[in-house]
Amino acid sequence: MPDQESTRRTVVIGNWKMHKTGAEGVALAAGIVAGLRPGRAEVAVAPPFTALAPVAAAIRGSSVALAAQDVFHEREGAFTGAVSAPMLAATGCSIVLVGHSERRHVFGDGDEDVRRKALSVLGAGMRPVVCVGETLEQRDAGRAEDVVREQLEAAVRGLSDARLAPLLVAYEPVWAIGTGRTATPDTAETMHRVIRSSLAALAGPAAAERMPILYGGSVKGDNAGAILSGANVDGLLVGGASLRADSFLDICHAAG
Ligand code: PGA
Repeated sequence: MPDQESTRRTVVIGNWKMHKTGAEGVALAAGIVAGLRPGRAEVAVAPPFTALAPVAAAIRGSSVALAAQDVFHEREGAFTGAVSAPMLAATGCSIVLVGHSERRHVFGDGDEDVRRKALSVLGAGMRPVVCVGETLEQRDAGRAEDVVREQLEAAVRGLSDARLAPLLVAYEPVWAIGTGRTATPDTAETMHRVIRSSLAALAGPAAAERMPILYGGSVKGDNAGAILSGANVDGLLVGGASLRADSFLDICHAAG
């Protein structure tokens, strides 16, 4: 968790992935809103596109923010199946994930897609969460730090320091997502330090100090506190455990 001098707020985002209809999403969001104790953590939920509008209504007036799981970088046009950043902003989103490993590995999003998506999210006045992380093969080959650095640099290339200010980063080792295998607090902190120093080189040390770096990958109520103990671990991106209000609330409350 950030030290007292840090201005970074703890951020917890529930990534529902391809789960929950609108009605199911409303029920889950209502459970979260009802059970969330006031704390220092900023909490957001990321429903699938079809549940964004009903969930936006369900969290209205609460401290829970709305996030989207992905975006297409164009504003509008003949792009069947795509949803743009201005559309997400108009639906009430303030945060958008870009470059999640499932987008990269299942849907073929490349670094350039991630960069354009992040740019479009910033352009619509929202905060992109740039997701980075190495595969097990890359880690075993000793390339974890390089991979994460390269993904990050590619995502923010050409953006001025000022444009980068609203950025969040999520470190999600691919081998830890949905596997029940969590990075140890030490591994997470080491990788977050690598990310922070890359951000300092890309956006300047002061901006890097303010950017929240979230950890994601098999986070649960009983490991959230330990993972957050790293000085550079500023929050959590939660998949499976965000699909029930009780397990998500345990994580939010562990975050403070
Ligand atoms: P998980 O997913 O918590 O189910 O491992 C995390 C994520 O992919 O964001």
